[in-house]
Amino acid sequence: MTTMTKQNYRGVYHFSPKENWMNDPNGMVYFEGEYHLFYQHHPSGMTWGPMHWGHAVSKDLVTWEELPIALAPDEHGMIFSGSAVVDWNNTTGFFEGQPGLVAIFTHHKEMPDGKPAIQRQSLAYSTDRGRTWTKYEGNPVLEHAAYVDFRDPKVFWHQATNRWVMIIACGQTVCLYHSPDLIHWTFASEFGEGIGSHDGVWECPDLFPLAIDGDPANTKWVMLVSIGADPAFVEGSRTQYFTGDFDGEVFTPDEASRRVRWLDFGRDNYAGVSWSDVPAEDGRRLFIGWMSNWMYANQTPTEGFRGAMTIVRELSLELRHGDIVLVQKPARELESAHVQVLSMNEETVHEINTRLSEIRLESYELVAAFPRGKSAGFKVRVGVDTETVIGVNGETEELYVDRTASGLHEFHEHFLGHHTAKLNVQNGLYELRIYVDRSSVEVFGQGGQAVITDLIFPGPECTGLAVFSEEDQNLRMSLDIYEVKPFAEQAKK
Ligand code: FRU
Repeated sequence: MTTMTKQNYRGVYHFSPKENWMNDPNGMVYFEGEYHLFYQHHPSGMTWGPMHWGHAVSKDLVTWEELPIALAPDEHGMIFSGSAVVDWNNTTGFFEGQPGLVAIFTHHKEMPDGKPAIQRQSLAYSTDRGRTWTKYEGNPVLEHAAYVDFRDPKVFWHQATNRWVMIIACGQTVCLYHSPDLIHWTFASEFGEGIGSHDGVWECPDLFPLAIDGDPANTKWVMLVSIGADPAFVEGSRTQYFTGDFDGEVFTPDEASRRVRWLDFGRDNYAGVSWSDVPAEDGRRLFIGWMSNWMYANQTPTEGFRGAMTIVRELSLELRHGDIVLVQKPARELESAHVQVLSMNEETVHEINTRLSEIRLESYELVAAFPRGKSAGFKVRVGVDTETVIGVNGETEELYVDRTASGLHEFHEHFLGHHTAKLNVQNGLYELRIYVDRSSVEVFGQGGQAVITDLIFPGPECTGLAVFSEEDQNLRMSLDIYEVKPFAEQAKK
């Protein structure tokens, strides 16, 4: 084992930087066989500070190779969040004869004498598969006369209008712009007033089409909007989504968007956006989020590094009881990083527990199903006085994660809690898929319709797991457990 994998709370299959602070995922783009992941990074400090873009690449979405820092602060300020695209047709003029990568990000410039900072959008490009970056000499390319909070541009190629579209957070709305070349931008519209949650500043938006139930003739646009932490709300920072139509200029929300809908019902999935340029043959909309919360992100009890990403997830839209629901499923690549340790089919809780009492695990995936209407679940990362409880309340049909006894929590008064998500059940079973790692649980209920992502900080000795049923020990469950280890770790065995 390397020193790094021994660090307390460093996930076995979750990305964290080798050292120091990380927040939002940035610039995710697929190019020439590699998934790029950039991230908000303070390379010399354990708390938020002068923001750089850290960089990692992966071929399999599970194992990440950290590369040198991609973008560092300059005369225009720090490098805040943003996106990256492949400029296939050299619309920018940065590339000759071959496509290259362009990053579109916020330059955040602090001002003297207590004046508000200035946030403007800039470009950088790479002709060597993201290994080195050149900042565009004409930076910044977009500013706003009125908004102080004007950041986190997410750019994509809009086929129907044959030009680039940018969605960007503007205070408590998002603004849409378009451009032929990523350099000259035209304002198109603004969205968000009087709709959605305004519990905090709007940040890190995304906008993309998804086919409902996989039918390309029936497509909706999905808008993700993260909202910052406000001391008035114990939930801290969260991400909401809207569904609607988009014509290249204006986003028109559908009726269902009149009510606030959350992407995740845990506390620790923030600022997530989707990958650009995933090949059409693949067709997936891949997503990753920052697994923390601004409420306590600067205080979490990790050593040597601070901040982790969620597992990569595939987003899709499904019609459930007449509602269009944004569904998240673990990317299938994770399955090749797992090794089965248990498989039980419709066995009693009593029998399952007998088997589980012999198993100690830290990083694993658990797939379970039991009859609708029953209250049951799992205790994971169990030790003396420590447990994280994950289950379903059969009466209210709610999925929950209870981290009130999950380990260290003194770093923030609102860390402890019980988080719930309503299940939308279409058959006679409750279905749970749970990813457990050194300092996190990610719970996908009913095929990813209800998701709860939570950090936990149990001691390394807390490796017990158990099943429980509130009715009786004869409740029958199906259960598969897999240890999750990236390929490199498996090869070492
Ligand atoms: C979201 C955010 C972004 C900003 C970045 C700064 O977590 O506040 O709006 O660009 O973090 O690190």
